[in-house]
Amino acid sequence: DSGGEKARRAPVVSVMGHVDHGKTSLLDYIRRTKVASGESGGITQHIGAYHVETDHGMVSFLDTPGHAAFTAMRARGAQCTDIVILVVAADDGVMPQTKEAVDHARSAGVPIVVAINKMDKEEADPDRIKNELAGMDVIPEEWGGDVQFVPVSAHTGDGIDALLEAVLLQAEMLELEAVKDAPAKGVVVESSLERGRGSVATVLVQNGTLRQGDMVVAGAWFGKVRAMTDEAGKQVKEAGPSIPVEILGLNGTPDAGDEFFAVADERKAKELAEFRQSR
Ligand code: GTP
Ligand code: NA
Ligand code: MG
Repeated sequence: DSGGEKARRAPVVSVMGHVDHGKTSLLDYIRRTKVASGESGGITQHIGAYHVETDHGMVSFLDTPGHAAFTAMRARGAQCTDIVILVVAADDGVMPQTKEAVDHARSAGVPIVVAINKMDKEEADPDRIKNELAGMDVIPEEWGGDVQFVPVSAHTGDGIDALLEAVLLQAEMLELEAVKDAPAKGVVVESSLERGRGSVATVLVQNGTLRQGDMVVAGAWFGKVRAMTDEAGKQVKEAGPSIPVEILGLNGTPDAGDEFFAVADERKAKELAEFRQSR
């Protein structure tokens, strides 16, 4: 324990729901309108996580393709999501993967905020969605339950500010905290080998502060953080709790859900990584 002081941190949110109900569209809309474009000339590179500033505070999103990463992380005991946004298309209703997402969130003990998407469509029927989810014990607040349902359109952007507000309200109730002034630790969201860059890993800092130049262990790999960039491709020198960043400098590609942490020196990093490789 570092003894540093705990402070509020931003919520980390995963977006889940049935195929084609609009998860990516919703995230794209938020990214397009809320992520300040960086120095890379507005070119959005792919990154599996990003954070946005809203009028009510910061939110970090994990852009997990399907449920695979969430499941992988849970299987490794890496609880990294504070809130699930459950996307349900208003013209389609509750489908198998909607149910799966509810089960995932429940077994992880993560609260749900429902986004009733595609409200711009003529066939949209939000009451049907509420009825179907209530039948699964996901009860809207206006019916006496404790789940916020927010009608949105990822096409027009209607309701998306209200959705972010709902997420931040939910986050407030969770009283999420972390220590900023401590060695960084967190979880790997994804990683790959890129030509000319080497190992590129997207990591989510959960506690402490990660700094350029830190020596880190990530899964069975280690290295000195040579460079860090945010979701807009902008170079950053440090990342605190709930902030996702891309890091360069690892000697391999850790798996989604692997934990990472800063260590004092290379000898220690090597020792820990080798121990992990041998398991
Ligand atoms: P998967 O990743 O394949 O599971 O799908 P997804 O949930 O990410 O859905 P995606 O964002 O790819 O959207 C599926 C289709 O629905 C696309 O054709 C979108 O343009 C459309 N769509 C998404 N949101 C809206 C919306 O708010 N209104 C309307 N009219 N169409 C939408
Ligand atoms: Na799709
Ligand atoms: Mg998608």
